Amino acid sequence: MVVGEEHVLTDADLRAGFETDWTGQYRGRARLVVRPASTAEVVGVVRACQGAGVPVVPQGGNTGLAGGSVPDGTGTAIVLSTTRLDALDPVDTAARQVTVGAGVTLAAAQAHAGPAGLRVAVDLAARGSATVGGMAATNAGGMHVLRHGTMRRQVAGLEAVLADGSVLAHLGGLDKDNTGYDLSGLLCGSEGTLAVLTRVRLRLIPVPAHLVTALLAWPDLGTMVEGLNDLRTRVDGLEAAEYIVRRGVDLVTSTFGVTPPFAAGHPAYLIVEVAGGTDPTDALADAIAALPDVLDVAVATGSGQRQALWQLRELHTEALARHGPPRKYDVTVPLATLAAFVAEAVALVEDDRGLTCHHFGHLGDGNVHLNVLGVDAWSPERLARLDDAVFTLVASHGGSISAEHGIGRLKRRWLHLSRSPVEIAAMMAVKRALDPLGLLSPGVLLPAPDQVPMWSAGTDPILPD
Ligand code: FAD
Ligand code: MLT
Ligand code: ZN
Repeated sequence: MVVGEEHVLTDADLRAGFETDWTGQYRGRARLVVRPASTAEVVGVVRACQGAGVPVVPQGGNTGLAGGSVPDGTGTAIVLSTTRLDALDPVDTAARQVTVGAGVTLAAAQAHAGPAGLRVAVDLAARGSATVGGMAATNAGGMHVLRHGTMRRQVAGLEAVLADGSVLAHLGGLDKDNTGYDLSGLLCGSEGTLAVLTRVRLRLIPVPAHLVTALLAWPDLGTMVEGLNDLRTRVDGLEAAEYIVRRGVDLVTSTFGVTPPFAAGHPAYLIVEVAGGTDPTDALADAIAALPDVLDVAVATGSGQRQALWQLRELHTEALARHGPPRKYDVTVPLATLAAFVAEAVALVEDDRGLTCHHFGHLGDGNVHLNVLGVDAWSPERLARLDDAVFTLVASHGGSISAEHGIGRLKRRWLHLSRSPVEIAAMMAVKRALDPLGLLSPGVLLPAPDQVPMWSAGTDPILPD
């Protein structure tokens, strides 16, 4: 056997955790779960599946929020769990890079880089479980995109097993390397549909000497957006600009018993974090003092205080899950329209439906997380109508239906709202070329063939006017 009997899980109880996604909304069935420990074992598994025509769903930490990490309900696919691909190569301090197994968690990668004074630039609340491979496969975003970009920018190279079992490897980590298509970039964000990622060459950045975090209270979202714009011109080294509102803070504090720093609640809050080689506290305080609409401020410099502020933001997902499951809409809109979009979205969702719409997000990136509570008993058809209304609103504001969680199973029907027919056709051509039998993560990301919008005569987008 390719991986050893103890690493093939056939028992229903042992499979269960791999068949349900983090949100509990996607419950599939796997023929079995296989847990390879090396690239050679992944090759063996993928070749065997290709020979038998068996679909393969790669899974890392299973923290994905778009339903892509679990199989469908047919019981035909296997789950290929990457958590045993956990090798850590020595940190290359000259290049400021490290190669790690795809199953290494973000927290483990950070702990490995830390002693060299380095860190991974992407950070997110699921750091203890989310794997580097899963983060590359979803092109994860998180708290620091504003300054350092998404996961794709942190990936200097990849090793991956293609659907036919061949190993595509580009791990040299050269910063300048103009030798054709950027295949690592293509595999970032491919959500398990093009290859199983086995190793990732990560770029690292220096751990900052000083970090200061502040919580700013505002009368509303609109003034906060303007204030952030102002702050960005006044402060260097802004690493994070995250927003939360009173309803979410109340939910987090009542669910987890954490205490907010202000005696009275405020309508909206911005958490900003600044990094610097010298202490940026005074510069940040001066910049905040110059903002006209701030109602209150709490500044944290020590790690305990900073963590207490971050908890108010990071515990939103867990708090909502305890009161849910929520319907999650991870979207981006242009900053200029963000406040108007949120007001319209909340009204659209809550209007006459008895639903509660929470919202928070990565303000600096225009990334809003709408989380709708009260849909537990809704039928799939009714949910799809709500999804359609929300995504259509996003598109009408010039936004994207997926900011950072990917398309997964959740949004594949609406891909055409964010991608043109030509783009979708090109993606499908890539898929056919790399996975002609369609065995990698079927039903994820790409729309079903009967859902692909056709070009109408006279609108061929290739031809210039
Ligand atoms: P999984 O959930 O296991 O898989 C996700 C997708 O990637 C699936 O389609 C799967 O097939 C594919 N995949 C996984 N591993 C591989 C591999 N080795 N090769 C090929 N395909 C693979 N996301 C953000 O972007 N920003 C956030 O701020 C953020 N915060 C979160 C906070 C919480 C509390 C939670 C629960 C989730 C959060 N997420 C966030 C979502 C999630 O953590 C990310 O999408 C993460 O990148 C998923 O990693 P994973 O290892 O859990 O992947
Ligand atoms: C976050 O920013 O906290 C995450 O993307 C998770 C979520 O949307 O709940
Ligand atoms: Zn997020």
